[in-house]
Amino acid sequence: MERIGIVGGTGPLGRGLAARWARQGHRVHIGSRDRQRAEDAVERLVDEGAPPEQLAAGANEEVVPAVDVVILAVPYAAQQATLAVLADLVADRIVCTAVVPLGFDGDGPYLESVAAGSAAAECREILPEARLVAGFHAVSSKRLRRVDEPVDADALLCGDDEEALEVVARLADEIPGLRGVIVGPLRLAAQLEGQTAVVLSYNRRAKTEAGLRLVES
Ligand SMILES: NC(=O)c1ccc[n+]([C@@H]2O[C@H](COP(=O)([O-])OP(=O)(O)OC[C@H]3O[C@@H](n4cnc5c(N)ncnc54)[C@H](OP(=O)(O)O)[C@@H]3O)[C@@H](O)[C@H]2O)c1
Repeated sequence: MERIGIVGGTGPLGRGLAARWARQGHRVHIGSRDRQRAEDAVERLVDEGAPPEQLAAGANEEVVPAVDVVILAVPYAAQQATLAVLADLVADRIVCTAVVPLGFDGDGPYLESVAAGSAAAECREILPEARLVAGFHAVSSKRLRRVDEPVDADALLCGDDEEALEVVARLADEIPGLRGVIVGPLRLAAQLEGQTAVVLSYNRRAKTEAGLRLVES
């Protein structure tokens, strides 16, 4: 049983992951800028059938010190401000960032450029001690939240800390129909983040909710 804290856990991705991991017996702490919003999110998850004893709510700065694994699930525009106040609390915890610097215009979704090279590289700069993994970028929150169906996708993961990668891959594997796939070092994060724009654009065109799979023969 891992203690998992989701910073930005009130959003669709955070709630989707929480819904799944709570059902696998993990203790999931939903974090928010506003404790009440986190409590409301937990209430909603419980209404949808999640086990209440596996869920907790708190302000992001309460959640981080209470857990072993932190999932970062905020919009890219909020990343710097969010992490600035959490950096000391995060210390050398395992952090998995799913943040994608995504823009939308008349042509649909696209990857915004980030001076550090990727959202995860920027995260690395702000959290120098964290055991950082980047992943889940293209995993659909809608599919996560349909808890009676397998997700049927891969969660591609990259990072420089093998042990942290293994922990996050195992967490991904525990979600029915999801497979945690470690692809390589953290420098691949820009490519993983970029895949989200591709998948979202396809999903808009095809009016579907496709996920990514690496297919091996
Ligand atoms: N949705 C998906 O399917 C999906 C899949 C893979 C990756 N992602 C990526 O994962 C991240 C989260 O996705 P999401 O769709 O769940 O995002 P979201 O709903 O836009 O945001 C998640 C949470 O972040 C907090 N937040 C929003 N604006 C903020 C701000 N200006 N400053 C600080 N906190 C703010 C909010 O929580 P509080 O107001 O409660 O603090 C919000 O509920 C994004 O970077 C996204 O690109 C999303």
